[in-house]
Amino acid sequence: MKASYFVLLAVVVIVLISAQFIIQMTEITNLRAQHDTDAKMAVIERDSLRALLAPGLGEYMMGVQQHHAKLWFAGVNKNWDLAAYEIGEIDELFGDVAATHPTNGSIALTPIVQAIRTRELAQLDTVVLRRGESGDFRASFIALNAACNNCHKATEHPFIKIQPPTTPPATNQDYMLVEH
Ligand code: HEC
Repeated sequence: MKASYFVLLAVVVIVLISAQFIIQMTEITNLRAQHDTDAKMAVIERDSLRALLAPGLGEYMMGVQQHHAKLWFAGVNKNWDLAAYEIGEIDELFGDVAATHPTNGSIALTPIVQAIRTRELAQLDTVVLRRGESGDFRASFIALNAACNNCHKATEHPFIKIQPPTTPPATNQDYMLVEH
């Protein structure tokens, strides 16, 4: 009598422990699923916030235009450090464009931007880093300029025509720093 009572008690305890275990496992599974959903939502929210806070493409382009013009005067005046700096600024803005404006209409901008960064911009960077000895600054600049216009054509903005500037974009900056 006593023995079967203990067996019954043991069975009840085992059943309770198993039930508790199953409940906890279910809770863990639910928490994991919730965590995965939260993580996905956080990524979506981050991306939409980034898009919301990012300047418009036209605003980035105004910055690019300014650095493009300064780059010309830096290069033709052999102010190589300034030229390298301006290339860095264009590269940075192109990086921002690729991250925040991956498309324009139905055109994917990111691959075009990345191609220019690794081709025309990198080529110009090499000329500038070698202080004009490995290639012609003007020719490489004009190749970059053509790449700007090719993207404007590709994105149905052929009326935005970029050219080497004829006057400095800002006259309160000296582009003709002598080499040291
Ligand atoms: C990947 C494509 C792409 C590249 C590369 C590109 N642009 Fe643009 N650019 C655009 C698009 C698209 C617009 C129109 C933006 C808009 O609709 O707001 C634009 C607009 C502009 C504008 C017009 C801004 C204004 O309001 O007048 C200028 C200036 C400009 N780009 C300069 C440049 C220069 C300089 C380069 C090269 C160093 C360049 N862009 C490279 C796609 C590009």
